[in-house]
Amino acid sequence: MKLDLTLLLSAAIGAQTVFGTPIRSRTPYLTKETHNVPRKWSKLGRAPGDHKLHLQIGMKQENFDELDRQLYEVSDPEHSRYGQHLSFDAVNELVKPAEESLDLVHEWLLTNGVSEFSYSPAKDWINIYVDVASAERLLDTEYSVFQHEDGSVLVRTSTWSLPAHLHEHVDTIQPTTSFMRTAPKKTDWVQFAEPFTPAGYKPPTNETIAKVCRLFTVTIECFQTLYGTLNYHQKVPGINRIGFNNYLNQTPIRPDIFSFLEKYRPEAAPNAYAFRSIEIAGGPAAQYTPLTLEQAAGDDISKEANLDAQTILGMTFPQPVYSYSTGGSPPFIPDINTPTDTNEPYLTWVNYVMGQEDVPQVISSSYGDDEQSIPKSYADRVCKQFAQLGARGISLLVSSGDGGLGDEDGTSCYSNDGKNSTTFLPEFPAACPYVTTVGATMQFEPEVSALREPGIGPDGNTHGFYASGSGFSYYFPRPSYQDKVVPPYVSALNGLYDGLYNKNGRAYPDVSAQGLYFAFWWNGTESSISGTSASCPLMSSVISLVNDALISSGKAPLGFLNPWLYSKGYQGFTDILNGSSHGCGVTGFPVTKGWDPVTGLGTPVFPELVKLAGC
Ligand SMILES: *[C@@H]1O[C@H](CO)[C@@H](O)[C@H](O)[C@H]1NC(C)=O
Ligand SMILES: *[C@@H]1O[C@H](CO)[C@@H](O)[C@H](O)[C@H]1NC(C)=O
Ligand SMILES: *[C@@H]1O[C@H](CO)[C@@H](O)[C@H](O)[C@H]1NC(C)=O
Ligand SMILES: *[C@@H]1O[C@H](CO)[C@@H](O)[C@H](O)[C@H]1NC(C)=O
Repeated sequence: MKLDLTLLLSAAIGAQTVFGTPIRSRTPYLTKETHNVPRKWSKLGRAPGDHKLHLQIGMKQENFDELDRQLYEVSDPEHSRYGQHLSFDAVNELVKPAEESLDLVHEWLLTNGVSEFSYSPAKDWINIYVDVASAERLLDTEYSVFQHEDGSVLVRTSTWSLPAHLHEHVDTIQPTTSFMRTAPKKTDWVQFAEPFTPAGYKPPTNETIAKVCRLFTVTIECFQTLYGTLNYHQKVPGINRIGFNNYLNQTPIRPDIFSFLEKYRPEAAPNAYAFRSIEIAGGPAAQYTPLTLEQAAGDDISKEANLDAQTILGMTFPQPVYSYSTGGSPPFIPDINTPTDTNEPYLTWVNYVMGQEDVPQVISSSYGDDEQSIPKSYADRVCKQFAQLGARGISLLVSSGDGGLGDEDGTSCYSNDGKNSTTFLPEFPAACPYVTTVGATMQFEPEVSALREPGIGPDGNTHGFYASGSGFSYYFPRPSYQDKVVPPYVSALNGLYDGLYNKNGRAYPDVSAQGLYFAFWWNGTESSISGTSASCPLMSSVISLVNDALISSGKAPLGFLNPWLYSKGYQGFTDILNGSSHGCGVTGFPVTKGWDPVTGLGTPVFPELVKLAGC
């Protein structure tokens, strides 16, 4: 719909003479965004007017294109500026909004009685705390309480408006139409018993590998041997650091981490009580005491966090490790009167980190949701926020998801655009071009893409479907670094699955690592766990060790990895040749020679990566 803004503005000027208030606050409201409520969510009723919301207003960034240009220069190994990452201030200068935009939004807020706001470091986000009734007036909308099939509850709306003159100054405001939830990408957890053995599995024949790598369970020593980090001695731990993200009240349980390390990386065990815990927006601190019975009975509490901590501490000792716990407040009490106030936690986290001088060079994040559960405007802005981390020289790795192309049988593989057409379901932030997305493999010699068919295992437990996440974004076009590999892959498909994915979208994963049956400690006992959630901290650890070699030889850390990975780094990966993406009821994209959207460029060969990085 095209609107005549001149007409609207003159109507507004007319209004001014009557009310004597600023002209611009008086332009009529026009719909800014509509986004369908995703499948699996149903409306329970009106949201209580006094429920508190933390609204994040994404201001249009004045110079993002320039930031993007500079990000690619400093991340391209062929460019003269390679490795010359931008300072905190330089990044902020590039993404700050225009003064005029800030003035107009301030005026609008003040006119509506909102006088307290805070900002992200670059002022590209304005935070306000208002109740639902005020937010409804500000955005000319109506909030409802929505419930997911799994029981969780959110306060959201499917459409919202802004005065016409503000449309060009504001990119997005959330929480409004985003139904993103940051589910951990870990699949099920197996206690003790030997689980399924994949069809055709052959134990490794190489003696060195056979000695340390078993299908069940896979240990730190196996990863170190398989990927070649075993004999590497770090030179600058402390200058070089690594971090990982926890959301949804996940936090590492230190006694479990200690028990795991004592068995699988004994010299690292004291670090279980020493790694840094950073709490953001009320996120829980890493816990010094074992899980209580009540905690352990909760839904998967701390399994993801324990997995990340165990993998990273096990792989990167003696490097300092930062555990970021980002909260949503108030605490989760799923009931219509006190719905969850999830603060769109990626944004809360990334804005916090952007305000810090002391940030690890590599950060692992094993959480995600369907891309289509998030409106495009919001996905765009969160993704741009990740570009800012890259410009500062920070590598952000995310897991590709555990459902292959979507779900197992296709019951959820439908579009949310009102057409309800059959489609593969890409994930966010896996599909953001400014992150490095990690898929999962299993077995050894050769490694193949991870797959576990569902069923009841010999241990009597039910195992869900698990396949390494794969996809093509509908929101983000293919970044230039993928131009050499993705079009040839797509044309070799010869029309297979045409219409079910976006051939011109950003495709993922970029790389992969082991992701089935990791040795694992939780609630005081040993068990095993699987998922691209496991692959992501593992790959992040290997990248962090490459950074140690770089920094100790006076070079910059790798920063935003993808331009380097696709032009040079790929030669330091073992190409995976077997498997398929599975999911949405089909066999899915085949794993092939070269890059494929299941295992990316392959699994790391650390000594080669160190050489290719220029050490
Ligand atoms: C066996 O694997 C180890 C560790 O990856 C490797 O160094 C060695 O060359 C391999 N041996 C053979 C015979 O391939
Ligand atoms: C956690 O450990 C306690 C103590 O060993 C045990 O009683 C409880 O059943 C465990 N909970 C779960 C969910 O495994
Ligand atoms: C979408 O189509 C599928 C298959 O025809 C159907 O099962 C489902 O209920 C439809 N969903 C909506 C929201 O219309
Ligand atoms: C993997 O693929 C290669 C080449 O296509 C084939 O020879 C081999 O048998 C496959 N291995 C497995 C474990 O599927």
